[in-house]
This record gives sequence, C-alpha cells and structure tokens, in this order.
Amino acid sequence: MPEYLNYKFTDTPSSVSTFDELPLWSASFGLLLLKHLELKPCIAFLDIGSGAGFPLLELAGRLGPSSKCYGIDTWINANDRARQKAINYGLSNVEISDCTAEELPFEPDSMDVIVSNLGINNFNNPDKVFRECHRVLKPGGKLAITTNLNGHWREFYCVFEATLVQMNRQDLLQHLKEHEEHRGSVDSIADMFTRNGFTDVRHFLDSFIMRFVDGRAFLNHYFVKLGWLESWKGMIPDELQATFFDSLEHNLNEYARDNNGLYLTVPMAYIEGEKVITL
Ligand SMILES: C[S@@+](CC[C@H](N)C(=O)[O-])C[C@H]1O[C@@H](n2cnc3c(N)ncnc32)[C@H](O)[C@@H]1O
Repeated sequence: MPEYLNYKFTDTPSSVSTFDELPLWSASFGLLLLKHLELKPCIAFLDIGSGAGFPLLELAGRLGPSSKCYGIDTWINANDRARQKAINYGLSNVEISDCTAEELPFEPDSMDVIVSNLGINNFNNPDKVFRECHRVLKPGGKLAITTNLNGHWREFYCVFEATLVQMNRQDLLQHLKEHEEHRGSVDSIADMFTRNGFTDVRHFLDSFIMRFVDGRAFLNHYFVKLGWLESWKGMIPDELQATFFDSLEHNLNEYARDNNGLYLTVPMAYIEGEKVITL
C-alpha cells in the first residue's frame, strides 16, 4: 500500500509551528523559478542560500523521492527551521548543511541542478560562488537563479534621492547610486555566468508591484525592516538619521497621497546556464 495513504495531520504545537508562511517576497521569485526550471526524476539537486527552506523543500516535494535534495546556508537558525519543516513535511530526501556557498561541501561533478532564489545579492563574493557551482555541477548540469534587478523599487529610490536633495545632502547621492547599482542587470549577471564557465545562458524577465497605503506602512513593514532598513541607515550619517527618515516618511506619504498609494515596481529575472563540458 502506498505510504501516503497512512498520512494523518497531527495538530500539535510543533507541527503547526512550521505549517506556515513564506514571505510573499520570496514566493514571488520562487514562482518564477518554479515556472521555468526543468524538473527531471533521479537527480542530485542543490539550493544555495536555502534560508528557512525555500525553495528547497517545495522542490524536494515536487521532484519526489527519486531525487536527493541538498540545501546550504550560513544562517544556522534558518537551517534548523528548514530541517524541522522537512521532518514535518515527511521529506526524507533532504539534507541541509551549515556552510557558505563560497566553499561547497560537495565533490566535483556531483550535482545535476543548482538553484538559488534571491541568493546572489547576498553573497559577498558571487563570482566565487559561481565557480564553486561550476565545480560541483556535473558536465551539462544547470545553474538557475532568480533575483531582483537594478531598477528595484525605483519609485521609492526617487523619493529617497529627492529627500537627500531637499536636505542639501547631494554629497550622499553617490552612496545611493552605489546602493542601487549593487543589484545587477540581466547583462551583468549573464556575464557572471559566462566568465565562470557556463554556456547556453538564457533568461526570463518578469515584474510585480508591491503596494502599500503610505510611507509609514512601508517603513514599518516587518520584511522591509528585516531586509533593507540597515542598508538604508548605512547611507546616512548617524546624526542625520532621525531627521532624514522623518522627512523620507513624510515625502513618501505625500507621494502616496498624490498617487493613490505607494506602488513599488520589482523587476525580476530567472537566469539559467549550463556547465560547459570540459574535455
Ligand atoms: C534573501 S535570502 C533568500 C532565502 C531563500 N532562498 C528564500 O527564497 O526565501 C538570502 C539567503 O542567502 C543566505 N546567504 C547569504 N550569504 C551566504 C553565503 N555566503 N553562503 C550561503 N548562504 C548565504 C542568507 O543567510 C539568506 O538565507
């Protein structure tokens, strides 16, 4: 009898503790990945920067027990949560390691597919990560990433820039420019694939809009605080932060009033390359 016929949901605090949410941010990019990634049976699959288990666990479920799925992340607490999810979801084909993507604990030529959902903007040395992926992929293996691109939240960054100008702090505009440009374009990311040995690089573009009532709601949103606030504070001298963020919030509120809400564009890309077969 198939094992799944014995499944019973157990309503306990530990099972419900992982029942649960995925940040809508991650989900939007994950849907793009799930749309374009080719799924095959019996593969060795790796998710780098797998965080709290996404998309690792979703893909482990979709690939099924014939595939072995690995996740790696430097974030120990997130890895522990992902391991608990794997138990609760009944996934026995998943293994998660506490390690950096810059030094992968896998043999050369051992993986068929590597993915990373929103990892690339977070790696200190993305070229090194790409070289590691190239090393551990089998010849013909695929690396597929999703990321937000340069132009991310351009409406917000326009107001950010206008606020700096309004405060006569044009000297800080260069920090803002560098902050915005650290997100790659499709071309710059495709270059990273090719210079690290990948071929047949292809991409799919998409975008979505994040809507907030106003600047106050936006700046207080839990995921905005978690993901971006520190880097924005880093652009502003300590003694100016309180005044700057007050003005920024005020300007965002005015922008939202004039535009019937704060609509923020998120350009995103799925980019995939294949490991060149070296003879
Ligand atoms: C934006 S989160 C994405 C997490 C997850 N993939 C998702 O879609 O929700 C980026 C992840 O990359 C991880 N990370 C950052 N630098 C890393 C590195 N050098 N090696 C492995 N993981 C890293 C972070 O700990 C974090 O979990």
